[in-house]
Amino acid sequence: MKNIFDSHAHYNDEQFDIDRDSLLASLPEAGIVGIINCGTDVASSAASLEMAEKYPFVYAACGYHPESALEFTDDNLTEIEKMLSHGKCVAVGEIGLEYHYDFVPKDVQIAVFEKHLQLAVKHDMPVIVHDREAHADTMALLKKYKPKGVLHCYSGSAEMAKEVLKLGMYIGLGGAVTFKNAVKPVEVAEMIPLDRLLLETDCPYMAPVPMRGKRNNSAYIEFVAEKIASVRGISAQELLDITADNTRKLFDIK
Ligand code: NI
Repeated sequence: MKNIFDSHAHYNDEQFDIDRDSLLASLPEAGIVGIINCGTDVASSAASLEMAEKYPFVYAACGYHPESALEFTDDNLTEIEKMLSHGKCVAVGEIGLEYHYDFVPKDVQIAVFEKHLQLAVKHDMPVIVHDREAHADTMALLKKYKPKGVLHCYSGSAEMAKEVLKLGMYIGLGGAVTFKNAVKPVEVAEMIPLDRLLLETDCPYMAPVPMRGKRNNSAYIEFVAEKIASVRGISAQELLDITADNTRKLFDIK
């Protein structure tokens, strides 16, 4: 397959330390045309920009993940804001709310999320949003700030997806749609207008069936594409073509 655009990856993760460069260099041969590597704090956002400078098909998102929100300071916000003007920074991310793990108090997460939403609106840049078991608070803040962007690794209901679509936002689906117990992601894959869908890995996590449990990488998106395409009655290649176009459009990538 070709024209695979991975809208959400973490190649700076230590799981890639042993073979990061050889793996990234091999991906175009596997049909990968684009990757958005998401930072989760200043160091990983800087690492994403470095990777984007090295590989023409890699782009960066810069921001603070909710799990890094405790260490966040206003100085960090200034640094992130500077990064946004880099030619290969295409989004503010990965930002959002993580209520499954309670490492960081909700009010701290919300404050950091809001500062990033304000930054995105100020610079007219899309956001890449993490929402785990935090649907109500996430939707309230998205409705308040109305950024463009994507809800990545979407785990909400089809009902909530309608609200997301009404805001003009996109929905990112990945390995979870292939899991045997997947109900909601498959319902969303069935109902979502194809011009609002992005594909993603969230690698090294969330490897799709039949690679579940292994280290994920962008080439495994073909399993996600096959699953969603079968639900929609189109070919996996058609789905890859459409979602690659969607990703370029949302993130203004030529
Ligand atoms: Ni992620």
